[in-house]
Amino acid sequence: MSVMRLGHINVRVLDIEEAVDHYVNVNGMIQTHVDPLGNVYLKCWDEWDKYSVVLSPSDQAGMNHIAYKVKSDADLDMYKTRITEAGIDVEEVPAGTLEFVGRALKFKVPSEHEMYLYAEKEYVGTSVGTTNPDPWPDDLKGVGAHWVDHALLMCPFDPETGVNTVAEVTSFMVDVLDFYLVEQVMVGPDGDIQLATWLSCSNTPHDIAFVGGPVSGLHHLAYFLDSWNDVLKAADIMSKKRVKIDVTPQRHGITRGYTIYYFDPSGNRNETFAGLGYLAQPDRPVTTWTEDQLGAGIFYHTRELVESFTTVYT
Ligand SMILES: [Fe+2]
Repeated sequence: MSVMRLGHINVRVLDIEEAVDHYVNVNGMIQTHVDPLGNVYLKCWDEWDKYSVVLSPSDQAGMNHIAYKVKSDADLDMYKTRITEAGIDVEEVPAGTLEFVGRALKFKVPSEHEMYLYAEKEYVGTSVGTTNPDPWPDDLKGVGAHWVDHALLMCPFDPETGVNTVAEVTSFMVDVLDFYLVEQVMVGPDGDIQLATWLSCSNTPHDIAFVGGPVSGLHHLAYFLDSWNDVLKAADIMSKKRVKIDVTPQRHGITRGYTIYYFDPSGNRNETFAGLGYLAQPDRPVTTWTEDQLGAGIFYHTRELVESFTTVYT
């Protein structure tokens, strides 16, 4: 596995000042840069690279691109060949095109999302450093998220016409980018249609997830917190700050994570995801959820899907 982790996500926002206030004072991120176009770059306190979120002013919310960091420059050459052999056009992006990032590969995955792979990004260090570090820094803001953990992307899906880009993008991520399948939701009369998948490139239950829907989009980006107590406190902070909460603290059946779904001021869904869930391994047997138990898979306590979960996204 040469893809290490989610490197950053570029999110479109309607009002950049409101957005920065949310990502700093609710999510606890630190602003590290503003480029000449007004894009704002942020990192979490426990992250060491220059940024993990880029906020771009726009008149439409959603995601511009998602970027994953690979181990070495040579991996980029290897993936360029493999992506091309998979029939997908790859653009070589010179160093510096993405701010503070080395050369990168740009391509569209089968679910129409724009993805980058890169090997280098400017190192700035965590807020506690690397020598005799404290477990957390002073002056944490908001929920004080450790890092951006994963994203869930909505993928064009219509069983009536046979369109299933969840299955296509999942195959691509596994066969070409070396992710492995951890959990899946299977639907249809014979239970053989992949509606949703959770994939890892590390040892966390998911570094990316895909769910079928009417159109391609961003379902949520998630922040890591330590514990259930942190999730409870995060919900308190969201209420104090009048953040629109989609789903109050819950456990996911899928991945076993402790969650809150909430929205940034532009309507992009965020999540706080806590707990390890379990230690994912490439040879771990794939967990399958059936259509009749989908509610429990997503929201384990209520065992019912919230309507907005599949209908509201950017
Ligand atoms: Fe999530």
